[in-house]
Parts: sequence; structure tokens; C-alpha cells
Amino acid sequence: DFLSRRSVPDPQAPTVRPRHLRTTPAMRRLAREHVVDPSALILPVFVREDIDDPRPVEAMPGVVQHTLDSLRREAAACAKAGIGAIDLFGVPATRDETGSAAWAEDGILNRGIAAVRAEVGDEVVVCADTCLDEFTSHGHCGLIRPNGPRAGEVDNDATLATYQAMAVSQAEAGAHMVSPSGMMDGQVAAIRAALDATGHDDVAILAYSAKYASAYFGPFREAVGSTLTGDRRAYQQDPANRREGMREVMLDVAEGADIVMVKPAGPYLDVLADVAAASPVPVAAYQVSGEYAMVEAAAQRGWIDRERVIAESVLGIVRAGADMVLTYWAREIAENPALR
Ligand code: PBG
Repeated sequence: DFLSRRSVPDPQAPTVRPRHLRTTPAMRRLAREHVVDPSALILPVFVREDIDDPRPVEAMPGVVQHTLDSLRREAAACAKAGIGAIDLFGVPATRDETGSAAWAEDGILNRGIAAVRAEVGDEVVVCADTCLDEFTSHGHCGLIRPNGPRAGEVDNDATLATYQAMAVSQAEAGAHMVSPSGMMDGQVAAIRAALDATGHDDVAILAYSAKYASAYFGPFREAVGSTLTGDRRAYQQDPANRREGMREVMLDVAEGADIVMVKPAGPYLDVLADVAAASPVPVAAYQVSGEYAMVEAAAQRGWIDRERVIAESVLGIVRAGADMVLTYWAREIAENPALR
């Protein structure tokens, strides 16, 4: 009968079979388009003033606020694991209206930078967050206008001078790279000029270019003990805007950014893909605190496979076009090949 006449091809059978490349683990490995390389991972870390032991961040299981000692140990472990960079955030003991501890030579962030640089030398890129929000009493990323019709608003241009002071102090503390995250207009150009004028022309700028006013930053606010009451919608981008992300990137590149960033990562993969396709400089993406917390929380309840979801979430960011990824799992991923 018809079915037994094998010389006649089954008209239903596909002639092209993508499954050929999925048959064995070795075949799948061979055919992989993207890999997560430890050298392209950046670990954000928090260093807190005036504590004797590391403090867990409740909303980010596995993440702590470091002492200077525990920070050094973390940095050494990062170097050993072969990750690309460490990005430092400071949690000061006291805050004031202008955030002056941000650029104080003995400010906690600058001491943290010096400690990490002493530990890792040039083996790992030492990067620092260049923004006032951890240091101001009001929690905003810039200076607040004290009076006039716009009293209470962030003063863009007045803020730039504080970013310059902060970036220069970070370079002096030993940072290889500074990373302005405040979304003030002109911040990259201002910082570049200040670094160049003070003999730090070798220091790179990782620009938070397309940074959105995101609820996914929630757990980070606990990690830095943020005092913010309102929101940052007057300076961070509207989550509805895709084209605007590219505009911000183009401006930062023109102002001298060495690397541009899209943040958050997972919910903004469209923006990331746009930027990756057009940027003349490397592109970073920041898998933020909320992205981390959601996975850890669901995993704690046994609702998802933690390791597989971590691997898939970071791979997705790389697949969308990120050349490097900031993630709180950076060291763990570098140490455990099952996570990549
Ligand atoms: C601002 C800054 C924030 C984050 C990184 N840099 C907070 C904010 O913009 O409100 C968030 C990072 C995260 O959520 O993991 N200095």
C-alpha cells in the first residue's frame, strides 16, 4: 500500500530540520550564537560607613552592604573568578543637602575605591558610581533649587559641578572608570572636561545613557538606605519612550562616553537591541535590583529553577546585544559554569 512504499517521500515530512542542531549537548554547544563570558560581567557592590560586620540587604537575598574589610575580600574573590569589573556604590553615615561626602577624599565611596584598587590593581576594572543620591539628605541625584518659582526641583546645571568634583575624587582614589548615573543633561561632557583638566585623561566613562524612571530600582533603595520620598521622573526617562533612549545614547557618545548603558535591562531589551545595533561604542546593560529580587524571591518559594532562570535572564540580555552586563550575580555566574 501507499504507506509501505518508502521510495515515495511522505508529503508531510519536513525537508529542512532545525532540530539537527539540537540533537546532543555537544551539537547545541557548537551551534550556540551567544555565550556569557565572565570577563564581560560587572559586579555592583555596596560599601557602608561605620559598620563592623557586613549587613544583609533584606530585599536582595545574598547581597550585603560591605565593610571596607569584607569589600576587599569580595574584590579578591572577583579577581580570582575572572570577572571584568567591580562597580562601587557608597552608603555614608551622614548625608547633607549637597551630598558633600560624595567627593570628600575620606568619604566612604572614595575609601572603598582605594581599598579595592589596592586589592586588585589592574586585574579587574575598578568602576565607581558618580551620582549624589546616596549622599544627599533628600535622596535626589542632584542639587535642589532652594527658592524661586522652581524651588524643590533638581537644578541640572548646578549639579554638574558636583559630578565633576566627585569624578575627579574617584579618579584620585584609583578608579579606572567613573559612571555618571544621575541623568543630568551634559553630565558626560562636564565629567570628561574635569578629568582631562586634572590629569586624569586616562580614566574612562561608563555612561548611564538610557536610564528609565523604573520601579525595578526598589530594592536598591534599601541597599543604599535611600531617603528619597518623591520620584525621579523629572530626570530619568519615561518608560514609554523607546526612541528617546537612542537620543540619550547619541548625546553621550558625542560628549565622550566610552561605554553607554541601558538600564534596567530585562524590561528594556528593545531599547538595548536598538542601541546595540547603532552604537559606535560598547554597550552595557544593568540587570537591576528588582530583576534580581524577583528571581530570588520566586526561587525561595520553589516556584522557579533559580540557576536556570539566572542563566536565561543574563543570556537574554547578551542576546539582545549587551557587550557587558552589570548583575548582582556576576561573581556567582563567573564561578559556576552551570549559570551560563
Ligand atoms: C543612582 C542609581 C540607582 C541605581 C543605580 N544607580 C538608583 C536610582 O536611580 O534610583 C539602581 C540600581 C539597581 O536598582 O540595582 N545612583
